[in-house]
Amino acid sequence: MNEILKLDGVGLTYHTETAEIHAIEDVSLDIAKGEFVAIIGPSGCGKTSILSIISGLLKPSRGKVYFNGKELVKPDNSIAYMLQRDELFPWRTIEKNAYLPLEIMRVKDAKRKTDVERLLKKYGLWEFRKSYPERLSGGMRQRAALIRTLASSPELLLLDEPFSALDYQTRLEVCDDVYSIIKSEKKTALLVTHDISEAIAMADRIIVLTRRPTKILNMHLIDTDKSISPLKRRESPDFGKWFERIWRELNNENK
Ligand SMILES: Nc1ncnc2c1ncn2[C@@H]1O[C@H](COP(=O)(O)OP(=O)(O)OP(=O)(O)O)[C@@H](O)[C@H]1O
Ligand SMILES: [Mg+2]
Repeated sequence: MNEILKLDGVGLTYHTETAEIHAIEDVSLDIAKGEFVAIIGPSGCGKTSILSIISGLLKPSRGKVYFNGKELVKPDNSIAYMLQRDELFPWRTIEKNAYLPLEIMRVKDAKRKTDVERLLKKYGLWEFRKSYPERLSGGMRQRAALIRTLASSPELLLLDEPFSALDYQTRLEVCDDVYSIIKSEKKTALLVTHDISEAIAMADRIIVLTRRPTKILNMHLIDTDKSISPLKRRESPDFGKWFERIWRELNNENK
């Protein structure tokens, strides 16, 4: 069994002072090691809530989450969360930002530090390591944020609309960069996005969610050629077919 993550009947109801918000109806899901899975669904349906549960920050009201076969009851250092905004600290240089998770986890291990250096070098940020984030382009900042996410050496990456603050052109480039980093570092990824094309271009599998309270509407195995980059995959003959199908599903949900 090479399953890294399992959600078994996960449900969530938020309790606020004035209301109960039924966010997640029932989500069961298995993700294999090394898989790249995209989650797509209507606005406000509960996507971020699902990631927060997997990150261990939020306890599900119903059901269970298993990570590497063990029930997940608190945040695990092997699961890293990357958010929409790059969230680099403006007062820290790029390298100081990248080493932050090691500082927080009080990791003194020199190998981990060398590993972050390797990532900065390999992914074109070494010469900017002493710069502050404001000096970098949006795409470079996003790469730096990904390297920081990788510093804790996680097995599973949770990506919540990581590209939505970028302009279209940069977004396409960063998508390719992030994809190749995740693949060459052999990580498992769960990406939340609003962008159907982005999901088809990057994912091995797409999960389409219903509106709130959410459950899985459909699952699509994207059998495009995985040896080519996400940008190139957009040109594949089946791309339009996938787009059309998923667009229809989402459109029906949004009615
Ligand atoms: N802390 C909270 N307390 C109460 N309700 C919440 C809380 N967080 C989210 N919700 C509600 O739960 C539902 C799902 O929210 P969530 O942020 O998970 O959706 P989403 O699919 O990520 O939305 P978006 O597409 O806007 O990113 C929404 O109706 C939201 O208002
Ligand atoms: Mg969200």
